[in-house]
Amino acid sequence: MPVIAFVSGKAAPGVTTTVCALASVWPRAVLVADCDPAGGDVLAGWLSPWLAEGWLRTDVGLLSFTTSTRHAGRATRECLRPHVQHVYAAPRVWLLVGVRDGAQSSSLGEPGWARLAEALTEMSADTDVLVDCGRIGPASPWPVLAAAGALLVVAQPTFRGVAGARAAVRALDRRVDPTGVGLLTCATTSATRTAREAARALELPLVAAPRGLTRSPLVRSARSAAERLLAHQPQVEQPLVSGGSEGSAPRVGMPG
Ligand SMILES: Nc1ncnc2c1ncn2[C@@H]1O[C@H](COP(=O)(O)OP(=O)(O)OP(=O)(O)O)[C@@H](O)[C@H]1O
Ligand SMILES: [Mg+2]
Repeated sequence: MPVIAFVSGKAAPGVTTTVCALASVWPRAVLVADCDPAGGDVLAGWLSPWLAEGWLRTDVGLLSFTTSTRHAGRATRECLRPHVQHVYAAPRVWLLVGVRDGAQSSSLGEPGWARLAEALTEMSADTDVLVDCGRIGPASPWPVLAAAGALLVVAQPTFRGVAGARAAVRALDRRVDPTGVGLLTCATTSATRTAREAARALELPLVAAPRGLTRSPLVRSARSAAERLLAHQPQVEQPLVSGGSEGSAPRVGMPG
């Protein structure tokens, strides 16, 4: 299954929340790559309790990957595996921890993102890959966005949300394959009707919208988005699925 990347225009519409919600309901092994150039929030947000308890490490991730591959002609998935951590709390989820802030991400540079794009693309042959790319801008991980098979603009279906998403779609123009771009309004509590109107206004296919107001619209809509995204994808071998939470130290590195 191709790499699936998530971006936004502005105003924090819920990219990180959406990616985390999707990962938590994803039915098979999935790698979450935190590539927000402004600084990753997955570890500090969703996974903070496990970080605090020592189950996850901050020093193993995107930065350690780009540092260790800086002299590599080509980055393979084997180069990436040692920099990915298993999330015991969500046994099907593996995490590439993001950078601390914008200064750290600018040290990666275009070549660093390009190596990551290569490795993620290779990894996606046997593991689903969801990438949080943060808000679109000059510092965006453009090689990763260009390599993604699906690029979902996350937006709230409001006037403000549509305006922000439109700016993102414009920024993507001519830099990515337009056929892979879609709208995701997953992390909202708004009704499907307004999501459809937002998609029409943006002239984008609507990948998923909440099915209506329920007691947990985020999780319900994440399930529906996961089903839609997986619907036409072939089942692949799952070499990364591993058992529960045995051991007490962080498990670094994906099994080969
Ligand atoms: N479905 C939801 N229901 C309620 N609150 C939500 C929902 N989705 C996101 N939020 C809240 O909106 C805020 C922004 O969410 P999040 O960090 O996921 O956005 P983002 O688009 O990743 O932002 P940034 O661009 O800063 O990375 C957070 O406080 C989050 O708790
Ligand atoms: Mg975010």
